[in-house]
Amino acid sequence: MTMRTRNLGTTGPQVSALGLGCMGMSGMYGETDRAESIATIHAALEAGVTLLDTGDFYGMGHNELLISEALRTAPAALRENALVSVKFGAQRDPDGAWLGYDARPAAVKTWATYSLQRLGVDHIDVYRPARLDPQVPIEETVGAIAELVEKGYVRHIGLSEVGPETIRRAAATAPIADLQIEYSLISRGPEREILPVLRELGISVTAYGVLSRGLISGHLTAGRSLAADDFRAHSPRFQGENLQHNLTLVEALRKIAEQKGVTVAQIAIAWVLSRGDDLVPLIGARTRERLDEALGALDVTLDAADLAAVEDAVPADAAAGERYPTHQMAMLDSER
Ligand SMILES: NC(=O)c1ccc[n+]([C@@H]2O[C@H](COP(=O)([O-])OP(=O)(O)OC[C@H]3O[C@@H](n4cnc5c(N)ncnc54)[C@H](OP(=O)(O)O)[C@@H]3O)[C@@H](O)[C@H]2O)c1
Repeated sequence: MTMRTRNLGTTGPQVSALGLGCMGMSGMYGETDRAESIATIHAALEAGVTLLDTGDFYGMGHNELLISEALRTAPAALRENALVSVKFGAQRDPDGAWLGYDARPAAVKTWATYSLQRLGVDHIDVYRPARLDPQVPIEETVGAIAELVEKGYVRHIGLSEVGPETIRRAAATAPIADLQIEYSLISRGPEREILPVLRELGISVTAYGVLSRGLISGHLTAGRSLAADDFRAHSPRFQGENLQHNLTLVEALRKIAEQKGVTVAQIAIAWVLSRGDDLVPLIGARTRERLDEALGALDVTLDAADLAAVEDAVPADAAAGERYPTHQMAMLDSER
């Protein structure tokens, strides 16, 4: 398989058509295996994946240290091709509770300094606030990152989960490479207002939750028990009747997948890939087995009849339950 590439916006870097999202390797989805996580990152790099996505608050430094070790122990040629995208701003206590966001200019520079240390690099490839800090105008946050770009500590600026007005204000302040936002067969909100603005401004999307955190991967069953600190234990889409309903959508998708001789996860990823060359799905694989399956989506072509069948099986807005618990939905500028 030859890895295809896509550009992150008109001003950003060229990256592999699929990126590896490393969050699940630091506890957000239950137990993890450090050796397997590192082997997964190495396997992704070997397969031509060049974009690794993290956040400084994923395990409060754990994820960046993991990526640092994986890069240090990877063959030099692969390490040199790797681009690391880092989110900052989320504040948490030692128990993992979410305390809010800090994206004031001094905080931006401080977070970046910690990240450079933990990652063991002299620059961060794409740097972005995880959420809009409601106390801080986006111009100030982006302006601080732009200063880091000028000094060579950051290469490109990204955004995460912000809406049209914030995107326009950010882009008027400095060049923006990409917006990171949840986008999948069952999270199609960005199509209404956000994607048109991004396309007008030449900004790409790094799409997360393409498998809706495993919900539409075809591997999740209603009986699976989730640890209390697993995000999904509190996510509306994974609860009771919502879960039952959402899994019926997966079964409808499975019929199409079986007819094509592919898996449900591959259809879901291929569908996002089919929505435009300006979209780069971030795959949340935590094992080499899941990674292999996800990479297989690059070989899945969905023709017009396939796309119609997929839309029929999973119509827009078919999902039951919001994509975050209420208090976290309130932090999403993209949902205003
Ligand atoms: N900007 C933001 O606000 C934001 C928010 C969330 C995530 N992100 C980024 O986006 C990345 C991806 O998000 P996500 O982890 O929620 O995405 P996802 O790909 O929708 O879900 C990942 C989960 O799906 C399950 N899965 C089943 N089959 C899979 C397969 N073939 N390949 C990959 N996963 C499979 C895995 O769980 P099991 O291993 O249990 O099967 C995995 O933990 C994150 O790692 C993070 O970097 C950003």
